[in-house]
Amino acid sequence: MFSKAIDSVESANPRHIAIIMDGNGRWAQKRFMPRAFGHQAGVKAVRKIVECCAEQKIEVLTLFAFSSENWRRPEDEVSLLMGLFMATLQREINKLDRNNIRLRFIGDRSALSSQLQAKMAEGEKQTQSNDALTLVIAVNYGGHWDMCQAFQQILNKISTGELTHPTINTPLINQHLSTHGLPDPDLFIRTGGEQRVSNFMLWQLAYTELYFTPTLWPDFDPDALTEAINSFKGRQRRFGHTGEQMFNNSVIP
Ligand code: FPP
Repeated sequence: MFSKAIDSVESANPRHIAIIMDGNGRWAQKRFMPRAFGHQAGVKAVRKIVECCAEQKIEVLTLFAFSSENWRRPEDEVSLLMGLFMATLQREINKLDRNNIRLRFIGDRSALSSQLQAKMAEGEKQTQSNDALTLVIAVNYGGHWDMCQAFQQILNKISTGELTHPTINTPLINQHLSTHGLPDPDLFIRTGGEQRVSNFMLWQLAYTELYFTPTLWPDFDPDALTEAINSFKGRQRRFGHTGEQMFNNSVIP
């Protein structure tokens, strides 16, 4: 009976996986190739991981493709990454649609080229009714930006009278974050060996299980993802409760 309770708490698949795909540059350098080669290999890894998440019936996969801080990279690397996003979207939107995958972007789009913004909007519109995996791509995204834009929206609604004397609480902020309507990540994965969150989904990661691996992103394959998911499944999530409460099966979040 005791192990049954443990099983029921510990064996669920994550609903939402969020990934910082780090290590493309080092992967290329190890092969004496330019960083661009690593980013191209990174796109191939993205495709395999998206397929794997769809097969494993994961509800949401969020990929950190470009942070608010990545503009600090050399200009040619920034334009290479932007070109790669555009080419990938052009090539993949129809395939995602055929596989019933819904595409969504988070981040400040205003700094992106109008062509890229248009393609992103097209991808979202074309796939909006799909209901298998939701693939969220974070582009020019930062956790600070997300919270600031949520607070700004709330402030604007107060000044126009749409919100009168609101109570600032978790549901109100959730509704205004770029991730509104999505469950918070259950599992956060960062490849490439660094052990930090780097301004990614700061609000949403409050109770997320963190998983760090030295594997460089282009080498992160479905087996590596399964290993991360298995590590997640072996953890006991307590959400502030005691371990005993969870064992007694009295609280299932
Ligand atoms: C970090 O590796 C990776 C990025 C900043 C870009 C991630 C982009 C992709 C995987 C390709 C495009 C993705 C999509 C969704 C179309 P790094 O360059 O910091 O590697 P390093 O730490 O080894 O230098």
